[in-house]
Amino acid sequence: MKKTWWKESVVYQIYPRSFNDSNGDGIGDIPGVIEKLDYLKELGVDVIWLSPVYQSPNDDNGYDISDYQAIMDDFGTMNDWEQLLDEIHQREMKLIMDLVVNHSSDEHAWFTESRKSKDNPFRDYYIWRPDKEGKEPNNWAATFGGSAWDYDEASGEYYLHLFSKKQPDLNWENSELRHEVYDMMKWWLDKGIDGFRMDVINFISKADGLPDGPNPHNKKYGDGSQYFMNGPRIHEFLHEMNQEVISKYDVMTVGEMPGVSVEQAIEYTDDSREELQMVFQFEHMDLDSGPEGKWDLKPLDLRDLKKSISRWQTGLHGTGWNSLYMNNHDQPRVVSRFGNDKEYRVTSAKMLGTFLHMLQGTPYIYQGEELGMTNIKFDSIQDYKDIETLNYYRDALNDGKSEHEIMQSIYTKGRDNARTPMQWNSEKNAGFTTGSPWIAVNENYKEINASQAVHDPESIFHYYKKLISLRKDHKIIQYGDYQLLLPDHQEIYAYARSYEGQKLLVLTNFSNQEQTFTKPENLSFYAKDILIGNGQINSLHVEKVVLKPYEAVVYLGE
Ligand code: NOJ
Repeated sequence: MKKTWWKESVVYQIYPRSFNDSNGDGIGDIPGVIEKLDYLKELGVDVIWLSPVYQSPNDDNGYDISDYQAIMDDFGTMNDWEQLLDEIHQREMKLIMDLVVNHSSDEHAWFTESRKSKDNPFRDYYIWRPDKEGKEPNNWAATFGGSAWDYDEASGEYYLHLFSKKQPDLNWENSELRHEVYDMMKWWLDKGIDGFRMDVINFISKADGLPDGPNPHNKKYGDGSQYFMNGPRIHEFLHEMNQEVISKYDVMTVGEMPGVSVEQAIEYTDDSREELQMVFQFEHMDLDSGPEGKWDLKPLDLRDLKKSISRWQTGLHGTGWNSLYMNNHDQPRVVSRFGNDKEYRVTSAKMLGTFLHMLQGTPYIYQGEELGMTNIKFDSIQDYKDIETLNYYRDALNDGKSEHEIMQSIYTKGRDNARTPMQWNSEKNAGFTTGSPWIAVNENYKEINASQAVHDPESIFHYYKKLISLRKDHKIIQYGDYQLLLPDHQEIYAYARSYEGQKLLVLTNFSNQEQTFTKPENLSFYAKDILIGNGQINSLHVEKVVLKPYEAVVYLGE
């Protein structure tokens, strides 16, 4: 397997609105990020992924961009951004930027032109269609509720928006549009950035004719995803982007890809096809959802997690490359989700980190994960800010769901769980802002905060620091192959890795009960060392290992 820097890196995601506010307006900003770079350096991460900081009316917190080459006023200036890049590089870290080009904002100049008239030169930059018998051109639902089409009075046609109506989809069939995007990408790369995270990039090619999607339960709108996920020209577009832009720089790329299968991910990330380097897949993030989608709550069955992760680990080994994540700005906090955010918060956060960081792939840490930050429960819907959450609340009430049931779903899955301000210290507003924060701070900040964690050698922060440095010291973590053990065990996730005569054995207990691991017959393993653990285990005897609640231990041996 070809070795590259991005296979050996650990990435830290910053959601700038909630990271650190330097000027007291209650909104995190770029100078605020600069203030915390030493903290990130101490953690040991190599790459920073910055969620969008471009000019935006903030319908979807910056994922609706009105100028790709300007910085949002809330976040600072282009000079601030230049300084950020410079300071990141001075500390020998790298910066990747978010690329959101499935859609723009409806306030982008391309769209304001495009909607002016049917013969405007920018008309074809977006996806416009006439009505179908007085109704929307097809039955697709938008991700944030309602139809994926909005009628534009002035020009008398509908435009497509797979997300909110302020996020019109760009028309990638138009080669001029594609080349505008490539030029914009080069402009950022020439400034010296180190790559891109590409927002829902497998949505950019839509099927010919935009056919209706299935609607088995006769709902108001159907599911068009099979006609826009991994569409007919997607590989052609990504290869073109690679040839015209990416291949000319030594940078990393990660494509966010809902609905991608292992087989498709191999196609996207196989080096020889010259498309992307890795993808964010969602399979493991969908295992605790029922048939109705993310708000339809279902407990995680650990055996499902094993099946899914194992297929990805084995499937991409040697041909593509995995990204490893359990948190980001769209997901609830993992310690609340798959761990225990009460009596076992610290232990279970360390266990989850161990599970993820010993796998093959590039790990992503989302701000606050290294502190074991938890989900929030605001009493009132008024305190929530996320468009997806607010729309769900409105639509579900209209559909007759009880307020109680709706709030349970929001507490468990809502995106604002990840978006409360970063907890820096035990002072007012967790040290995030001297003003009034744009979204409430989690009230547990006096106990859970970075200042406490940095000073406590037993903290999750220090444990993550060790996980990160182990990956650097041991090629087996980066490049070893993967073998699942005990596939049917309901509480223990155990796996082995091997590389050039060395072996690694990873045992993690996902339950709040003691569990006993019995070494399976098909594993020959002789332990020589314990690399890391969150409990007291110090024996190298691995025939039978008693794991305390949420205990994790990693052995190196042969
Ligand atoms: C995925 C992003 O991660 C999410 O935050 C955003 O709402 C959608 N794409 C639309 O851009």
